[in-house]
Formats: sequence, structure tokens, C-alpha cells
Amino acid sequence: MDTTEEQFDAHAEAYDALYPLLDDDHPMITFIRDRLPPRCSVVEFGIGTGRVAIPLVHAGLDVCGIDLSARMLEKLAAKPEGARITTVHGSFTETRNLAASRHSAVICVFNTLFHVLQQREQARTLEAAAAALRPGGLMFLENSSAHRLVRKYPDGDAVRVHHQETGRVWLLAGVLDELRQRLDVTHIRIGGGEISPVPVSFRYVWPSELRLMAQAAGLDLVEEHGDWSGAPYDTSSRLHICVLRKPPV
Ligand SMILES: C[S@@+](CC[C@H](N)C(=O)[O-])C[C@H]1O[C@@H](n2cnc3c(N)ncnc32)[C@H](O)[C@@H]1O
Repeated sequence: MDTTEEQFDAHAEAYDALYPLLDDDHPMITFIRDRLPPRCSVVEFGIGTGRVAIPLVHAGLDVCGIDLSARMLEKLAAKPEGARITTVHGSFTETRNLAASRHSAVICVFNTLFHVLQQREQARTLEAAAAALRPGGLMFLENSSAHRLVRKYPDGDAVRVHHQETGRVWLLAGVLDELRQRLDVTHIRIGGGEISPVPVSFRYVWPSELRLMAQAAGLDLVEEHGDWSGAPYDTSSRLHICVLRKPPV
């Protein structure tokens, strides 16, 4: 399972149990809603099963999304709000998959940029966002802090318990390659007489690298935070949250 598409197709069945829908008043949802005009059009890059898109719909936004994984999109379509969300099955790195200059916001959260495994393609993601935004539109990015990720793997690999209940355990076994900025994690579910491994890969991006990619794509960095309550980004931050803006004409 080498491609992101294959990895998330395999991940789709258990995704919602692991990562449930965000509450409508989750700080991420209010942070985004408070910076946008009411009922405006937003596109989520890597919309998945709608963990973020559905509460954004509840916040009154007109949400559409794009995803590489057909299985993740099927899970979204099966939900009641699925009928209110238009989706495209394809890659957000391809501008032809996105309506040009239409959206007030692009949302790319939960390390979705890190699942794009080549640096050039990550830069293309920001270029595609710039092309999809109307002038003055915003891109919201949320990624893990690269320095915190690296610290979790001081010897290059680690296994930790993600979730446990009676007779079942969910382990995360990760291998990190600092030179390639690459993290390969296998989710291992053990229980009910079965062991099921599902791999997920990341190319993590350093904040300085992300700022340069944004600048090259013609997007201005207007906010940078360490959490969705608006705390400043610093060495203690678990998250790296950026708001980028396409310059108004
Ligand atoms: C970590 S999940 C996040 C899903 C959802 N945004 C959430 O917060 O739960 C990343 C999603 O991005 C999708 N994805 C990764 N690379 C992509 C690409 N180049 N184009 C479209 N979707 C992509 C994956 O299939 C997966 O559904």
C-alpha cells in the first residue's frame, strides 16, 4: 500500500471510530467561521468522511470538497449532511479539479498537506489553493509541529498505544527518517482474534519551508498560531496553524 489513495481507502472503515466528527462549537470551527462572511463558499482539501466539513455546514457555510479516496468519500455521502456537500474524487494538487477563483476559503487541516509525499506536490497544493480562492480569500492550514513530531522519535522509531478497550488495542508503530522528512506509521488493530495493519505516510514540512511555499504561491501569511484558541506558535506548540490570504485585487 504505497499511495495515499490506497492508504486512506484502507483507513476509511475505521476512520470515524478513531476520529469522530468535531462538535459544532469546536475551537477550529468557530475560528474558521469567525473569519469568513456568512454562507460563503469553502472547499476542503482532503475532505475525507466529513469530520470537519459537516460542522462547517452546520455553521452555515456552503461546503464542497475533494479527496483522492473513493472509500472516504462514500462514508461522507452516506451521512445525512452528505447530500448538502458536493465532492470531487481526485487530487487537490491538480488545479483542473477545482473551480478557479470561486471560493472564499480553502481548508486543509489534520496534517492533510503532510499526506502529499513529495515536496514539489506540497508546493503545488498551495498553488492550487491560490488558484481556487477569490481575491482576499483565506487558506486555513493545520499541521503537527514538525519539531514535536521529530522529538517523538528520538531513535528513529517508536510504538505507542493509541486506544485501548477490553480485549482490543490500537497501536501506532512509526519510523521517522529525518533526512527525507518522512514518517511512516502503521496503525495496528489487535482484537477479536485478528491483527489488521493499516499504513499511513507523511512528509512533514518545517514552518519556515511552509512560509516559503506560501510566498512562492502568492499567498500572504496573515496569522500563525499554536492552537485553535489563537495561542502564539512557539516551541511548546503541538500544532502549527496558518491563515494565508490571496491578496485582494
Ligand atoms: C488525515 S485525513 C483528513 C480528513 C478530514 N479532513 C479530517 O479532518 O478528518 C486526509 C485526507 O486527505 C486525503 N488526501 C491526501 N492527499 C490528497 C490529495 N493529493 N488530493 C486529495 N485528497 C487527498 C486523504 O484521502 C484523506 O481522506
